[in-house]
Amino acid sequence: MIDENRRHDHPIQSEKNEVSTLALHDDAMHETAEPFEDTIKGPVWFYLFVVLSMVVGAFYLGRHMGRLDTAAHIGFLHEGGKPGQAQESAPAATVSGASIFGSRCATCHQANGQGVPGAFPPLVGAKYVLESPEVLVNIILHGLQGEIEVAGQTYNGIMPPWASQLGDEEVAAVASYIRSELGDNKADKVDAALVKKVREQTKDRQTPWTADELEAL
Ligand code: HEC
Repeated sequence: MIDENRRHDHPIQSEKNEVSTLALHDDAMHETAEPFEDTIKGPVWFYLFVVLSMVVGAFYLGRHMGRLDTAAHIGFLHEGGKPGQAQESAPAATVSGASIFGSRCATCHQANGQGVPGAFPPLVGAKYVLESPEVLVNIILHGLQGEIEVAGQTYNGIMPPWASQLGDEEVAAVASYIRSELGDNKADKVDAALVKKVREQTKDRQTPWTADELEAL
């Protein structure tokens, strides 16, 4: 009898238990969910807009940045054109000595041609600039190294050669500019024909000149 009761009791008991367990879970399931960070997706047009801006921006920079040149603005000052485009767009006949000077020489010799004491000699009032046009053309074409004296100061650096980067017209234009327009310099202009001649005569030269070699010219 007792056994029968038990067997009868058991399911009831278990049913009770289940009910309360479910109720427990039910309570738990009604708790507010833990807060968490969500990545909210924006509208597609926004992403398209961002990507498009980047593409357009990169393209614009590429076109108008002026080759990251330290002197990119100088062409702008002298030519009234767009920065960095002065040399590229200038036809050979109107090569501007000022803009070549600005982009190729001013980094070292400074925009006013005064150089940097102890490092880069001045071009204003310098004998190498004002005396022999041939010596000047030689320096520009092949560079200069070793000890030199300019305006009472000694320099011992290396001036890079430009023969492979500047054409005859360009060398003549920049030489003319530094001889006749830079600072107080007032010497004759240099002809492209002279550059052509010097280039031809010294075409085998591989190293920059030294002061002694220039003396011997
Ligand atoms: C990288 C720096 C640098 C650049 C760029 C440069 N020079 Fe020089 N230049 C020098 C140095 C350094 C010397 C002195 C070399 C030595 O000590 O032997 C020099 C010397 C000279 C001299 C003879 C010394 C004097 O002051 O008269 C002339 C002329 C000259 N440079 C012209 C030019 C011209 C023109 C350009 C542009 C086409 C140019 N340089 C670009 C560094 C430079």
